[in-house]
Amino acid sequence: MHNPHFTAYWRCPSNIAIVKYWGKKDEQLPCNASLSLTLSASYTELKATLSEKTSNEEVELVYYFEGQRLESFEARIIKYLNKHKAHFSFLSKYRLVLESKNSFPHSTGIASSASAFGALSLVLVDLYEQTEGKKISDNPTQTASEFARLGSGSACRSIYSGWAQWGKAENDTLGSDTHAVQITEVHEVFQNMHDAILVVDDEPKKVSSTAGHALMNGHPYAEQRFKQANERVMQLREILRTGDLQGFIEITESEALTLHAMMMTSKDYYLLMRPNTIAVIEEIFKFREQTNIPLCFTLDAGPNIHLLYPDNQKQNVENFIRERISTWVKSTIFDRAGFGPMQLTLS
Ligand code: DP6
Repeated sequence: MHNPHFTAYWRCPSNIAIVKYWGKKDEQLPCNASLSLTLSASYTELKATLSEKTSNEEVELVYYFEGQRLESFEARIIKYLNKHKAHFSFLSKYRLVLESKNSFPHSTGIASSASAFGALSLVLVDLYEQTEGKKISDNPTQTASEFARLGSGSACRSIYSGWAQWGKAENDTLGSDTHAVQITEVHEVFQNMHDAILVVDDEPKKVSSTAGHALMNGHPYAEQRFKQANERVMQLREILRTGDLQGFIEITESEALTLHAMMMTSKDYYLLMRPNTIAVIEEIFKFREQTNIPLCFTLDAGPNIHLLYPDNQKQNVENFIRERISTWVKSTIFDRAGFGPMQLTLS
């Protein structure tokens, strides 16, 4: 290995959307606003090293995932770097080695592209600042969010801790389509939310999110859906501010089912829920009706369930998972709101 000239090392968590981004246009811009919670236990750690070039490739990159060269993802990153290399002149001067690892297993319904592109953008901004000896912009966090978005839409929200919005809703002075912003007015009850990820199926995804987004072009319900999501982002912000758990449950679960309804009603329709997904959802409904405990579910573009609940319900919900739904669940990842990305030190 050549002597490294510069190194950067970052951890970036994944996030779970409550109001879903589903449909995109132009250069990775969303068709509607979305709002998510950044997690803590599910993250990517990415180490980047710049050393002397060994070839005359414009962008010389080697990408390792958990110790193994991963050429499929390497190709996606090379494409991304080639597209944005004008912003990062170090890419034409050095060879870049990326070593990545995830804290969570593959195909568990955790958005790995969110944490991966979040970490990549943080590392790129860091390397820019080291090699140029100046800040990348007046607001490096926002710039990192923008570069994350260009890699994977949902990644731009992972740059912030807690609640983050991406996309501008109607009459919205806070949101932006180019980068995410943090939602800071959050009632105590929503500050320490938990997300227990109930893995009912760990087969790799049948339809990629990118293909799913494309199916919103010409979708018969697209316009109504985009309008609904924008309205819900504004409603959810008010719900987060006032601590309205009932309102939160209604939007969260309807968003999950609406996302899957969009998949089921697109031209090339498909179905990602599995029988065990439905069994668990029905048990959640039953349990909530019987106990009034404010837990609710959401789904990503997959069959696994994210069970959301406030911190003061931790014990009750853990008992529920153990006693009432374990027959349908292969494994559970207990995650929760965290502190956002973190710079790591090289040992
Ligand atoms: C259902 O961010 O994975 O998780 O921009 O093509 O990388 P690309 O898509 P991606 O889509 C995420 C979709 C979602 C909802 C969400 O996270 O908002």
